[in-house]
Amino acid sequence: MRIADRQAVSCVLIALLVGGSVVWGGDPAVLDPRVPPDQIEEARTWRNPFSVTPERLERGKEIFHGKGFCVTCHGRDGKGLGNIPGLRGKLPRNFTDTQWQAARTDGELFWILKNGSPGTDMASFIPLVLTEEEAWHVLLYVRAFGGT
Ligand code: HEC
Repeated sequence: MRIADRQAVSCVLIALLVGGSVVWGGDPAVLDPRVPPDQIEEARTWRNPFSVTPERLERGKEIFHGKGFCVTCHGRDGKGLGNIPGLRGKLPRNFTDTQWQAARTDGELFWILKNGSPGTDMASFIPLVLTEEEAWHVLLYVRAFGGT
């Protein structure tokens, strides 16, 4: 390979790495499970009891923008806002990242809504803000950002 070709290849690799981290909302360890190892097996068995319908997606969207106020950190486009004053720790998740979507089960996402993501500003929403039923609906909407 000529030197110029090698440089071109490294440029492409660097662009992929930089581009990748932007898509990942800034956290390179974004695919690492958030549910603790002693609970993840059980969480992965939980299934969303609600299948997707246009009405349920609409309800999930209303919760995302309304009583769940998810939009204040995750953004209208679900890509996660990086400029939230006082945000500690990790950036809000980019829900359009299909690799992240594939890495998580519905049960793991539900666990997060119950417990929050420890050490980050992702708080627990069930039961104080959302009922379990509302949480499953908002998760249908979260999944829709990934095109599923
Ligand atoms: C105060 C800001 C804030 C609000 C409000 C918020 N989130 Fe989050 N959320 C975060 C942050 C920060 C993370 C990243 C946590 C991490 O990396 O572990 C996150 C991560 C997540 C994750 C991904 C966890 C994983 O397994 O990767 C889901 C799902 C999620 N939020 C759903 C929601 C939903 C649904 C709502 C509304 C009911 C909501 N969030 C409201 C800040 C917020």
